[in-house]
Amino acid sequence: MSNAPTRDVARIYNSYIASAAMAGAWEIGALDTLASERRLSITAYAQTHDLDVESTRALFTALCSVQITEIQGDEVLPSVNFDEAFRAKPFFHWLVRGSSDLFTRMPEVLRKGERVGDFYQRDSAAIAVACRDINATFFDPVFWAAMEGIECTKVADFGCGSGERLLQILRRFPEAQGVGVDIAAGAIGVATEASRLAGMTHRLTFLQGDARYPDDRPEFRGVDLVTCFMMGHDFWPLEDCVQWLERLRAAFPDVKKFLLGDTARTVPASATDFPVFTLGFEVGHALMGTYLPTLEEWETALGKSSWTCVQRHVVTTPADTVIFELEPW
Ligand SMILES: C[S@@+](CC[C@H](N)C(=O)[O-])C[C@H]1O[C@@H](n2cnc3c(N)ncnc32)[C@H](O)[C@@H]1O
Repeated sequence: MSNAPTRDVARIYNSYIASAAMAGAWEIGALDTLASERRLSITAYAQTHDLDVESTRALFTALCSVQITEIQGDEVLPSVNFDEAFRAKPFFHWLVRGSSDLFTRMPEVLRKGERVGDFYQRDSAAIAVACRDINATFFDPVFWAAMEGIECTKVADFGCGSGERLLQILRRFPEAQGVGVDIAAGAIGVATEASRLAGMTHRLTFLQGDARYPDDRPEFRGVDLVTCFMMGHDFWPLEDCVQWLERLRAAFPDVKKFLLGDTARTVPASATDFPVFTLGFEVGHALMGTYLPTLEEWETALGKSSWTCVQRHVVTTPADTVIFELEPW
């Protein structure tokens, strides 16, 4: 008799602990140390960082169980899955530090009677930190290729999260000003602090507000570049999205480009083969009651709006991610 299901089920169970250990290892700096130095002494690392030694060893044991690290005596070394796991680290952070309450409370969240008001909690500061790294590794190379030839004197970023995209744009265009809008106080806090540390507060304004309703605000005057990343899916279904696109168009009479980057709902080839992040993203949004459009549905919405898509820039991870390069009619 095969014991494969027994082993598979143990691996499924262990991967939950390993996911938590990935998020923990990144936050305490151990993943970065392992990535750069390719080894780490558990005792010395724990002592230097004021960590409990046995808990630190346990964290690496969890990572060993899925071959992200290996332990030799007191030393931790990268194992076969380390480099890929390191690239994917913000997705673990998004899941474990940003969204775990949503998944832990699945039974409550499923019950119709409980799906009222603020029926789930997520950590917006942790999500902002995760998205900053998702951008750095996966979106930025494609984003900066899309920015080739685009000029900017004033930029507005909707759902600005950590504010990192705005900071990068202001570094590229030293005369430019920027404004970031986000609904979450945690994200605005992370962005404001990042702007202060970068010495950009005189060029950058953050507004806490709902990006679905961009008013005619004085801060938006003269904006020639609008960006919006990893948030457009919050504004569906279709008619809501089209209306949002129209309101954005009206709020920015001087806009020349709108770069809209988002991850769409995949159409999976198989029920067992999801790439990293996709399953968490899609199950999470179903639990939150947020409709996720497919890329085809995005095309329909854009076709009904007063924006013309002049180019589609494909991001390979997360799956089905595109940066639409839009111009006003
Ligand atoms: C997945 S994060 C992406 C953050 C950032 N755009 C980036 O690329 O790193 C989505 C952001 O959109 C914000 N958001 C969601 N709904 C919003 C709304 N209605 N108005 C403004 N911001 C919103 C969230 O608070 C969060 O910071």
